[in-house]
Amino acid sequence: MLNVLCIAGTRPNFIKVSALYHAFTQHPRFSPTLVHTGQHYDAQMSRVFFEQLGLPEPDLYLGVGSGTHGAQTAAIMQALEAHLIERPPDVVVVVGDVNSTVAATLAAVKLHLPVAHVEAGLRSFDRRMPEEINRLITDAISDVLYVSEESGLTNLKREGIADDRVVFVGNVMIDSLLRFQEHACGLDTAQAMFGLAPRSYLLVTLHRPSNVDVSERLLEIADVLETIQARIPVVFPVHPRTRQRLESQGLYKRLDALPRLHLAPPIGYLEFLSLMHDARGMLTDSGGTQEETTFLGVPCLTLRENTERPVTVTQGTNTLLALDKARILHHVDDIITSEPASATPPPLWDGQSAVRIADDLARRYTAQP
Ligand code: UD1
Ligand code: UDP
Repeated sequence: MLNVLCIAGTRPNFIKVSALYHAFTQHPRFSPTLVHTGQHYDAQMSRVFFEQLGLPEPDLYLGVGSGTHGAQTAAIMQALEAHLIERPPDVVVVVGDVNSTVAATLAAVKLHLPVAHVEAGLRSFDRRMPEEINRLITDAISDVLYVSEESGLTNLKREGIADDRVVFVGNVMIDSLLRFQEHACGLDTAQAMFGLAPRSYLLVTLHRPSNVDVSERLLEIADVLETIQARIPVVFPVHPRTRQRLESQGLYKRLDALPRLHLAPPIGYLEFLSLMHDARGMLTDSGGTQEETTFLGVPCLTLRENTERPVTVTQGTNTLLALDKARILHHVDDIITSEPASATPPPLWDGQSAVRIADDLARRYTAQP
């Protein structure tokens, strides 16, 4: 049996690892185990995903919590290293681009354990993003790189990574979406939680430090949201980082008082899928959400100057926008007045990505596939 150790620490990790864990448990030659680093720990950022996505209790909880990049990365490395020395797995699987991803990769590679990176090759070409540094390091030192969209193949080739380390498998985030879509859509969350009909509201999420950690920018964003809610109701589940920033600038109360702006705590995965599916459009800076709206055919305005997921712009529903109020309002008005085009999923976003990964790992790391 192949002992595969899956690493997860943050909200998007749980969604991706759930697809992988499910495929590994279905495979006759795999014995998966799960480490939760504790990077995200609030019930609505962690436990709800385990419950809703059918993930088991982690085999190990590192409980590192929040901290500076250095402190958090080091704490994960130190705690995970001890476990890897005591119980070395056959292969370590990391996903995405968060601090838990790079920390686990560094700890495992230095112990000469094989590492597979899922969602490899994405590049924003913006090194001010902490995630870009995490992606570059993780890809450079991992053994196998599983790519979610074709831009990843081009980027890894340009960086001189050998072809036999790279496999285009599609998108595990969409595996989970497809697995839970039917259940989620029956929930009618917009109506149940906010009294809103399908297609009558804009869904908002924001948590990038470049948007929410810069006071003047956050103030401008609050102003834009205030204007938008006068045109269309807004549902905004607020990430803990963003909530802290809004509160410390006295903006949370101001926004919460607006009649058509529905602020909420972070929302469970199934309810969030339901909200996304029924939204007229999305305003976001989230990576996963750019992909999910592309798959669902929901128009998405991304408040960023770049994206590491270009297929969501070239083939999907995504539009990148600088923080320019007039332009944002113009696009919001477009979404309000026009019918969305039908969705065409990017290649291999078909619900089978985790199975492809399991098959490839079996080929590489077991005597018989
Ligand atoms: C992290 C990832 C980011 C990802 C995001 C997904 C890094 C560098 N960043 O950003 O790439 O898009 O997760 O949501 O890995 N906090 C809580 N409760 C929690 C978790 C966090 O209150 O359960 C607060 C803490 O004050 C913490 C802050 O949120 O300092 C930021 O958390 P952190 O995990 O450092 O970064 P995220 O912004 O969540
Ligand atoms: N999500 C959720 N509840 C929320 C906000 C997001 O379940 O309130 C889900 C959603 O599917 C999204 C995923 O969490 O794609 C990733 O979260 P986030 O935007 O925090 O991370 P990123 O993808 O930007 O790293």
